[in-house]
Amino acid sequence: MELNFENRKVMLTETILRDAHQSQAATRMKIEEMLPVLEQLDDIGYYSIEAWGGATFDSCLRFLNEDPWERLRTLKAHLKTPIQMLLRGQNLLGYRHYADDVVEKFVAKSIENGVGVIRVFDALNDPRNLEVSMQAIKKYGGVCEATICYTSAVVDGQEIFTDEYFVKLAKQLEERGADNICLKDMANLLLPFRAYTLVSALKKALKPTTKLHLHTHNTTGTGDMMYLMAILAGVDIVDTALSPLGNGTSQPATEPLVATLKGTPYDTGIDINKLLPIVKHFKTVEKRLKDDKILNEKSKGIDVNTLLYQVPGGMLSNLINQLEKAGKADKLMECLAEVPNVRKDCGYPPLVTPSSQIVGTQAVMNVVMGQRYKMVTKETKDLFAGKYGTLPMPIDAEIAKKVLGDAERITCRPADLLKPEYEDIKKKVIELGYYEKEEDVLSYAVFEQVAENFFKWREAQKKGVDRDLAKTGVYPV
Ligand code: CO
Repeated sequence: MELNFENRKVMLTETILRDAHQSQAATRMKIEEMLPVLEQLDDIGYYSIEAWGGATFDSCLRFLNEDPWERLRTLKAHLKTPIQMLLRGQNLLGYRHYADDVVEKFVAKSIENGVGVIRVFDALNDPRNLEVSMQAIKKYGGVCEATICYTSAVVDGQEIFTDEYFVKLAKQLEERGADNICLKDMANLLLPFRAYTLVSALKKALKPTTKLHLHTHNTTGTGDMMYLMAILAGVDIVDTALSPLGNGTSQPATEPLVATLKGTPYDTGIDINKLLPIVKHFKTVEKRLKDDKILNEKSKGIDVNTLLYQVPGGMLSNLINQLEKAGKADKLMECLAEVPNVRKDCGYPPLVTPSSQIVGTQAVMNVVMGQRYKMVTKETKDLFAGKYGTLPMPIDAEIAKKVLGDAERITCRPADLLKPEYEDIKKKVIELGYYEKEEDVLSYAVFEQVAENFFKWREAQKKGVDRDLAKTGVYPV
């Protein structure tokens, strides 16, 4: 797929239809709240509009009684600007590794139904977990945006995730066919001056035709400064969200960056006046989300905890919850000190779903039990056993022995152990009587129970059941 970059020096991806409401409002924006402004959004001149994937798929099925595939086709009918989606590599949009045939089919159907750019990432930065989805994106004609998850760890005063580490990873992904490289700062840990050196190093190492795309959140209030430094260092595309759902736990806001760059060599070419009616519309959506108690004002402010403790915001609240449940709320500081130790033991995974939960839970157990690795979760075991992929740094051999016992470590690509599963799942969906189209098989493959509930509602709807009534889960048969 060819994109026209014209003369714009910096391009923007608008995230208001995906990450912005995922980060601030539990992914609850409905298609009806998008429709009134799609043509106007299309006219802005964004590089892409992120509108699908991530948690939107789950949320459509689970809470909104929307068929995510139907949503995608509707979006596509109104947008010529490439629709961007976020895909978790071999995990697709779910929480386990899926077999290669399901991964390929999912990518094929995403592109066929309207996705233009697929940003694909792996929580451990193991390129093997991106292999099959990257090949499929190329095969079916999408723009392949392969991702490096930004992470950081200081050992004896030295950063171990050096520019060289990230450059090597980016080159590997470029060699495997990535059109774009995304530097994904999901935990808002990338600070402005570090961004400058890292973006400079990446731009220098990558081919001039490979676009570098930067993603962050503004939870700690450093996002705008970080973007500006990255732009000075030559980043090609950055992710922003229109102000009604911008900043805070979401992306830095679109309008201030457009204004900042106007008339400079980095001009986005976007006319800020054209944004105003769209902003006005999303203010009404913001109000609806607040009225429904989905959007909390707190997610809009600055929270410096991430800067202080080097753990993502979501992980901190999980730690607090787990400790409160164990009646050990006073142990928070000990837990926060234990997190980097556990992370070191298991080879410094980036702290993002699912590794952030695994490391966090294990740190809590180590502190609450008063003895390290006396109790070990299944997920910790799997992480040490290589079942999520190869960890960025070597794991601690002594601890691994303790954690794994007799269990074996695998060194192959985890999905190599999975047999093809698409045809069996399809058979099951047909047997259950839910099959209408191939996409139903994919919904069921990724979110079994949730998809089944959705299919039940779909049947009920044909008998005239109202969408809001269906939310109660009571279906007159
Ligand atoms: Co994000």
